[in-house]
Amino acid sequence: MNPNQALWEKGDFTRIAATMRDSGDALVDKLGIRKGFKVLDLGCGDGTTAIPEAKRGADVLGVDIARNLVAAGSRRAQELGLGNCKFQEGDASDLKGLPNRSFDMVVTVFGAMFAPKPFDVAKEMVRVTRPGGRIVMGNWIPNDPTLVAQILKISSAFTPPPPEGFVSPMTWGVESSVVERFVAAGIPAENITFARDTFTFNFDGTPEDLVGHFRDYYGPTMNAFEAAQKSGRVPDLQRQLEDLFKAQNKSPRKDLTSIPATFLRVTVLVA
Ligand SMILES: C[S@@+](CC[C@H](N)C(=O)[O-])C[C@H]1O[C@@H](n2cnc3c(N)ncnc32)[C@H](O)[C@@H]1O
Repeated sequence: MNPNQALWEKGDFTRIAATMRDSGDALVDKLGIRKGFKVLDLGCGDGTTAIPEAKRGADVLGVDIARNLVAAGSRRAQELGLGNCKFQEGDASDLKGLPNRSFDMVVTVFGAMFAPKPFDVAKEMVRVTRPGGRIVMGNWIPNDPTLVAQILKISSAFTPPPPEGFVSPMTWGVESSVVERFVAAGIPAENITFARDTFTFNFDGTPEDLVGHFRDYYGPTMNAFEAAQKSGRVPDLQRQLEDLFKAQNKSPRKDLTSIPATFLRVTVLVA
């Protein structure tokens, strides 16, 4: 099986996505989406940004490699009566079946960054965007001190080294790598702009409970715990994650968790 697909079908990312809804909505608010816009939401998960895009009147196609998340997104759209929000399985490295120049906007929030072959991903996103359209990416930043970069960093210290030739998803959080990839896809460097932005994880429970959610439902953390189990280091991994989540929690209430995380927002104007 495709290991990229297996990673994201593992567990249940909808349980993590549920903590990200407010920030998904706030981000979409900044995108200037207008009624009738054709939007491709790539690596859409269960629709944290796709659903708010559709609520603003866009005609949205959510594409994701994980079949369970495509099904969950479709269910959410149906329950909300959003006939303008469709979800389908697909791979950001190869958007076969999607015509050239067919979207006004491609949005990918912590989505396409996880696909293999980043140069192909940039090429595919550019290919399906119409001239004058935009690509907006949200990418976690390597070595950033905030939550997600630190979870991935801690987790990687417990997992075996990746196979030869593996390109870390976190390289999408490095401006020079992003420019290199889009320039190779035919975009002039001056059409690529960057901003730091924040996504906040809001959870109805303690930071320790939220660690439990990541351990039970988030593929990369589940893999880290499986590897730590084999090496007898589960308590060490658990403690490092609990320390991280507690230190980053900004909620004034002990029984709630609210953790902001910094990401790189990339905007590409397709000429
Ligand atoms: C961290 S989740 C983010 C999901 C969603 N964008 C959100 O903000 O809630 C990463 C998503 O990227 C998807 N993904 C990973 N590799 C992919 C690929 N090659 N093509 C399409 N989607 C992919 C995963 O299945 C998962 O839904």
